[in-house]
Order: sequence, then C-alpha cells, then structure tokens
Amino acid sequence: IKKKKKNLRANLLHSVTLLSVVQGQQSRKMAIFAAVFILTTLLILYSSSNNIEPVYAPFHMAANHAIKTTDLKKWSGKDGYVPVYGNKNMTLLCHHCALVTSSSHVLGSQAGEEIDRTECVIRMNDAPTSGFESDVGNRTTLRVVAHSSVFRVVRRPNDFLHHTDANAAVIFWGPPNKIGKEAKGTLNRLIQRVSMTYSNLSCFSIAPSKMRRFDSLFHRETGRDRQKSHSWLSTGWFTMVIAIEICDNIKVYGMVPPNYCGKKPGSKKLPYHYYKPRGSDECLTYIQNESGRRGNHHRFITEKQVFARWAKQYNITFTHPKW
Ligand SMILES: *[C@@H]1O[C@H](CO)[C@@H](O)[C@H](O)[C@H]1NC(C)=O
Ligand SMILES: *[C@@H]1O[C@H](CO)[C@@H](O)[C@H](O)[C@H]1NC(C)=O
Ligand SMILES: *[C@@H]1O[C@H](CO)[C@@H](O)[C@H](O)[C@H]1NC(C)=O
Ligand SMILES: *[C@@H]1O[C@H](CO)[C@@H](O)[C@H](O)[C@H]1NC(C)=O
Ligand SMILES: *[C@@H]1O[C@H](CO)[C@@H](O)[C@H](O)[C@H]1NC(C)=O
Repeated sequence: IKKKKKNLRANLLHSVTLLSVVQGQQSRKMAIFAAVFILTTLLILYSSSNNIEPVYAPFHMAANHAIKTTDLKKWSGKDGYVPVYGNKNMTLLCHHCALVTSSSHVLGSQAGEEIDRTECVIRMNDAPTSGFESDVGNRTTLRVVAHSSVFRVVRRPNDFLHHTDANAAVIFWGPPNKIGKEAKGTLNRLIQRVSMTYSNLSCFSIAPSKMRRFDSLFHRETGRDRQKSHSWLSTGWFTMVIAIEICDNIKVYGMVPPNYCGKKPGSKKLPYHYYKPRGSDECLTYIQNESGRRGNHHRFITEKQVFARWAKQYNITFTHPKW
C-alpha cells in the first residue's frame, strides 16, 4: 500500500506540473482531464487508507450447540501416556499445581517464589527458568512439549531437563507419524536418546488413541470438527487438559481472559513469549490465528473460552492477570 501511495503521489505531482504547463495556451480539455485525474487519485488514496484496518472475523463455536460436559477427571485413562523408554507409568498426581504459561504477562510478576512453593510446577515447550527465576520460579515438575519444540528443548538439555524435581516428567505431543511408538523419524530418535540419558526423568508421548480423544474433546466443547475447521490444538490446550487430569487445584500464571484482546489489537504491544522480547505481539498472534481460514490455525481465543468454562467446573484460578 505504501508503494502504491508513493506512486500515486508521484503521479499527482506530475499531473499538477502538467496542468501549469498547459495553462493559458492549451485547450481547457487538458485542464479538465487533469482535474478529474487529481480527484480520482485522491479518492483512491482515501479509500485505500481506510482499508488498512484488519478485519476480525473470528472462529465461531457452532451455533446452538449443546455443550456436552466431559468429566476430565474420569476422561483421563492411564493408557494415554506411553513411556518413551523403559516401563514407567504416568502416575503424577498433585493437590496443588502452578501452570506457568509462556506469555510475557508473567514478566514483572515477582511470582517466582510463590510458584516454587507450589507442590507441582507445570511448564510448556522451551520456556526457560534461568534468567527469569524471580518471575517464573526455578522448579519444574512437568513439562509439556510440542513436536515442533523438541529440537529446541533437546538442544539445551541443561536448561530444560536438569534442575527438575525428583519425580519430574516430560510429556511430548504430536501427530502419531512424528511422535510415539510407531513413528520412525529423527524426532522420535531424539526423544528416545534424551529419555535414556536422563533416566531419572519420566518421558512420555501421547498415544495416538489419546490424540484422537483430544480432537473429540475439542469437537464436544466447541461444536466444531478440528480438522474440518482447519484448527490446530495448541500446547496450551494439551497442558490445561493434562493439568486438570493430574491436579486438584490449578493456579494459572500469565494467561489472559478470552475477551482480553478485543476486536482489534491494542495499542500496547506485549510479546507472545516472555523469553522472546522481540517476538510477535501476543494479541496480534491470537487474533490472526483466530480469524485464519486458509491453512491450519490455533484457536487461542476459543480455547480460552473453553478454559473459562472449565474454571467453573474444576478448581482453576488465573493470576497475572487475575480473572
Ligand atoms: C506400570 O504399570 C504396569 C501395569 O499396571 C505394571 O505392570 C508395571 O510394573 C508398572 N511399572 C512401574 C515402573 O511401576
Ligand atoms: C531457586 O533455587 C534456589 C536453590 O535451589 C533457591 O534458593 C531460590 O530461592 C529459588 N527461587 C528463586 C525464585 O530463585
Ligand atoms: C537426573 O539425572 C541427571 C543425569 O544423570 C543428573 O545430572 C541430575 O542431577 C539428576 N536429577 C535429579 C533430580 O536427580
Ligand atoms: C477442588 O479442591 C478441593 C480441595 O483441594 C478438592 O477436595 C476437590 O476435589 C477439588 N475439585 C475438583 C473438581 O478437582
Ligand atoms: C499463529 O500462532 C503461531 C504461534 O503458535 C504463530 O507462530 C503464527 O505466526 C500465528 N499465525 C498467524 C497467522 O498469526
């Protein structure tokens, strides 16, 4: 648009010069033509500058769909988590959990000590603790890692797989052709090697059958088929469900309420991840994903609408911001 505007402005100047040259001696025809041209140009400039605002057409939960509540406490089933190495069982159960999100809303919270005092601390993907201890604490009981974050986690094992609790676990999720017993690729070999090296850490992958159950849960809660609606589940979705399965009480740090971003991105920019200060803006990422039609997108805002419902059903509270 900028380039277009520049061209139009150049044309405008050109025609004004033309106008003065033809003045007097030349026919009035030319002057009229130039005037019309200037008016048209102004009109185009005006309408194009009005079109810059992003149009927000959010993902919609199916209309009139009756929400069939799922008891996530019973939904669990022990078979859903397959040990990557050895015959460990996913037995993690906690009375109190701190779910630390990766949002930059945690910055400046000074919640680190409170988080570290919590029985179980849950983190996601490659969200680091070192350098951010005063805001996010330094313990990790469970880390939920997406297939797309495996390389980043494995590359710096000291940051993500050391300094963890004695009963610490990592749950890897991803499409069954990338993660799990049947997968043959590099990703799976990496996970296996890490699980062997850090044998005091319990590593699991989500079984294909359970991955399908995560999809049907999304369908039941939103009335929309995940694949047909071109949606991807986020690590936040997996982590929240797993936290409800294993924790009696959950305090979520750094998650904004579903209506936080409004219809347009706010003027105040906040990075999507606390550890990437120059990364994309959180609200912009949420809104663009929510309105994405072509290609698959995360439905961060819809997911939060579901979380808000779950918060009433289970013991979930939100802090930084509080809601
Ligand atoms: C895990 O559970 C299975 C079946 O309940 C049991 O046979 C196995 O010994 C358990 N493994 C460990 C390490 O506790
Ligand atoms: C982090 O760990 C150390 C030692 O384990 C502890 O003394 C400290 O208080 C912890 N918490 C924070 C917020 O740094
Ligand atoms: C777990 O094992 C690793 C590698 O053997 C070791 O460095 C680490 O201190 C251990 N952590 C705990 C909590 O035992
Ligand atoms: C909520 O917390 C209380 C107290 O810790 C616990 O007894 C109860 O089972 C919890 N409810 C749910 C749905 O987890
Ligand atoms: C959707 O969110 C992801 C982060 O999970 C981000 O990388 C991507 O750029 C977002 N897409 C759009 C269209 O903003």
